[in-house]
Amino acid sequence: MMTLMTSLIPLGSHLGGWRHPQAWGHTAMNLDHAIRIAKTAERGKFDMLFLADGNAVRHMDHPDLFAAVSRSSRPTAFEPLTLLAALSQHTQHIGLFATATTTYEEPYLLARRFASLDHLSGGRAVWNVVTSGYEGDAENFSRTVHVPRSERYERCREVIDICRGLWDSWAEDAFIEDKASGRYLDPTKVQRLDHSGKDFGVRGPLNITRPPQGHPILCTAGQSEEGLELAAEVADTMFAVASEKTAAQAFYADVKGRMAKYGREPNQLRIIPGVTIFLGRTESEAKALFEELQELISPALGLAFLSSFFKMDFSGYSINDPMPEVSLERGIGTSSYRIMAGQTLRRENMTIREAYMRFAPTQGSFCVIGTPSKVADELEDWYRSGACDGFNIGTPVMPRCLDMFVDLVVPELQRRGVFRTEYTGRTLRENMGLPRPARQLNRKAELV
Ligand SMILES: Cc1cc2nc3c(=O)[nH]c(=O)nc-3n(C[C@H](O)[C@H](O)[C@H](O)COP(=O)(O)O)c2cc1C
Repeated sequence: MMTLMTSLIPLGSHLGGWRHPQAWGHTAMNLDHAIRIAKTAERGKFDMLFLADGNAVRHMDHPDLFAAVSRSSRPTAFEPLTLLAALSQHTQHIGLFATATTTYEEPYLLARRFASLDHLSGGRAVWNVVTSGYEGDAENFSRTVHVPRSERYERCREVIDICRGLWDSWAEDAFIEDKASGRYLDPTKVQRLDHSGKDFGVRGPLNITRPPQGHPILCTAGQSEEGLELAAEVADTMFAVASEKTAAQAFYADVKGRMAKYGREPNQLRIIPGVTIFLGRTESEAKALFEELQELISPALGLAFLSSFFKMDFSGYSINDPMPEVSLERGIGTSSYRIMAGQTLRRENMTIREAYMRFAPTQGSFCVIGTPSKVADELEDWYRSGACDGFNIGTPVMPRCLDMFVDLVVPELQRRGVFRTEYTGRTLRENMGLPRPARQLNRKAELV
């Protein structure tokens, strides 16, 4: 079955989405909106609800963009695990998918918080393991510059290793709670970790019983060589950045092809690109929505967007100038979107205005404008032709676009047999058909 997820963005995924007449007001720190999104996605039988995150207020160096709010500015946002813990009490089935960074956080606390969310939600926790894409986060963690990519990935591997070990601290039957004998737990069924590595020393065990899913589901987002190897080795699910089906197919085959050397089967990893849907009951309604939103991108906003996106100064340009050369260098930031857009620019000549109109709505990634059957055709085609295992559905105006997707596109996908009609599993791993990791015994530490 196709995996479907959506990001929790009450202000909508389009730069102008929050200004649409049908868009929600009061989107900052609004728990009611978050509950409503979670319930709607669960009504649509979505696998997961995703919270992207960072630890800084972004884009203050691009005042027009900052003042207008882009979805990645995140001027304010709930801390993801705290919010998802609240949402776990308003939902029963949907996966709760939080971003947390391995660059600035301690593995013991990460393992503990994700294990807690897995327990609170009855086995629905997912961790978007990031190394922090935004360089400004460093300044909130006693640093002046971001940690270089290779060091970030090395540290990330160590953190994941530690967390997995900590989640295996307790055997499932460690707590006997025998009132007659007075034995509450079996001390032979817990193990220390005794990890001593390059960046961390962690003795363990974790002071939380084994998570219902064994380990929470792990997702990775990095698209560099290091990122792809990490995904092939450890991830249950990963994000992909794609605008065209053939590129998505090549990416899919590449990453799945890397898994065998880690002793893994291709179906142990779900590859999920983003797709933004501009949906209408008719073709003209869908086009009208798209045009209406595009008109909300003023030239000043467009130029600020390009400066931030391509990491160049566009302030001196007129919108009718041809686009200058942009860098295809992989660096910090969400370079995957920038590189994909840069490749498009090498194939197509565009003016500055055409470039921001093209890249601002979806950062250049996959997008469908049309009716429910056209959207279902495209999603089914990508899914059936080895381009992906599912989609992160981008919703330009909230709540309108998620409501319409759930009411009009989900039934169409269900009718075609590519998407579930009911949740059948107990945990998210069961619903997604992902294996539950067996507890690994740490022989060295077993003899505590
Ligand atoms: C779809 C997607 C979502 C991401 N979400 C986040 C996020 O929420 N927080 C974050 O710090 N980085 C996020 N990233 C950035 C990645 O974690 C990573 O830092 C970035 O892609 C740079 O690494 P790379 O060079 O290996 O691609 C995301 C990247 C992608 C492609």
